[in-house]
Amino acid sequence: MRKMWAVLLAAALSAALLAVGPAATPAAAADRALALTPPMGWNGWNAFACKVDEHTLEQTADLLAANGLQAAGYQYVNIDDCWMSRDRDADGRLVPDPVKFPHGIKGVADYVHARGFKLGIYESAGTLTCADLPGSLGHEQQDANSFAAWGVDYLKYDNCHSQGVPAKQRYGAMSEALAATGRPIVYSICNWGLEDVASWGATMAQLWRTTTDILPSYDRMIANFHVNVQLADGARPGAWNDPDMLEVGNGLTAAEDRTHFSLWAAMAAPLIAGTDLRTASAATLAVLGNTEVIAVDQDPLGKQGRPVSMAGGLDVLAKPLADGSVAVTLVNETAQSALVSTTAAAAGLPGAARYIVRDLWEHTTGESAGAIGAVVPGHGAAMFRVAPADGPAA
Ligand code: GLA
Repeated sequence: MRKMWAVLLAAALSAALLAVGPAATPAAAADRALALTPPMGWNGWNAFACKVDEHTLEQTADLLAANGLQAAGYQYVNIDDCWMSRDRDADGRLVPDPVKFPHGIKGVADYVHARGFKLGIYESAGTLTCADLPGSLGHEQQDANSFAAWGVDYLKYDNCHSQGVPAKQRYGAMSEALAATGRPIVYSICNWGLEDVASWGATMAQLWRTTTDILPSYDRMIANFHVNVQLADGARPGAWNDPDMLEVGNGLTAAEDRTHFSLWAAMAAPLIAGTDLRTASAATLAVLGNTEVIAVDQDPLGKQGRPVSMAGGLDVLAKPLADGSVAVTLVNETAQSALVSTTAAAAGLPGAARYIVRDLWEHTTGESAGAIGAVVPGHGAAMFRVAPADGPAA
């Protein structure tokens, strides 16, 4: 009798298992606390592409400290593609290029950690990286262990040479491998917005790319904005849409640089600077270092700004902030200057007789009965922090 019960129980259990299907590899749940606000830092790709080495990274860390950007919040020093040797070692481990990294990745990690920074690295969820160096597909745990042993704090995980394996599976495997190392490592999915990553990225990572690669071109920057701005529902503390790294200082006009930085802050995007800090102009540093705009990006409420209106190339975005004020961003995508305007009510502010309007680029404070607007130069932007006069900014 007892045996029969056991058989029946076993049959019932396997039927239940069959009904659920084979367990999908559960991606490790992302630790939201690792990125409660969008990550800020620097990555060499946009300025140096494959010309990466320990000297440049360490010099950049020193410059971030000296030029005030570290104090403004830039924390990660991130290595992109091309840091490794063509071949894994005899035990299958990734090997840092000995010419570019004579002290290994651990040497750079120690250097930046001693100066209060964190270190990021790059790999690909494929058999090769985009520069055709060894990829991590099938080597997830071994590579995650290397990163952890070297003291890496952030992984950008690219999408080249994927061998047709579904993204969720490839990215989930690395998510689990990172969690298994026991080291807190921010996980940045870089699958270019494919396979609907915005709908599942937050289940396993702190940020995920939503677009194809940015370039130092106004049109490419605006194209990424147009895609990313539609995905506001998915962003929250610890989980961010990533419209790609910053091109500020890399050839856009002064007005375009301001627009780029304003839009990224309005969308609570990661702020990963990508310009050569050895030659960056005062104007570039002033954009990257605008702490009033950075405060909008880093606001603890963690809301991504939404379009209030986008018509005829004139865009208005509203981003609610933790203190009850709203960041209002006005962008003119056309070539001629134009009036871009909205109202406090349309931006989601409560009714009030007067509003305090702080201009985040001019650093001036004014008042308004409700109209918010500016004549914005072609390709330019204006950005305001608006609060009821009896509210937080009063
Ligand atoms: C892809 C990524 C870029 C960069 C390069 C490196 O194109 O999207 O951000 O990492 O690979 O090869």
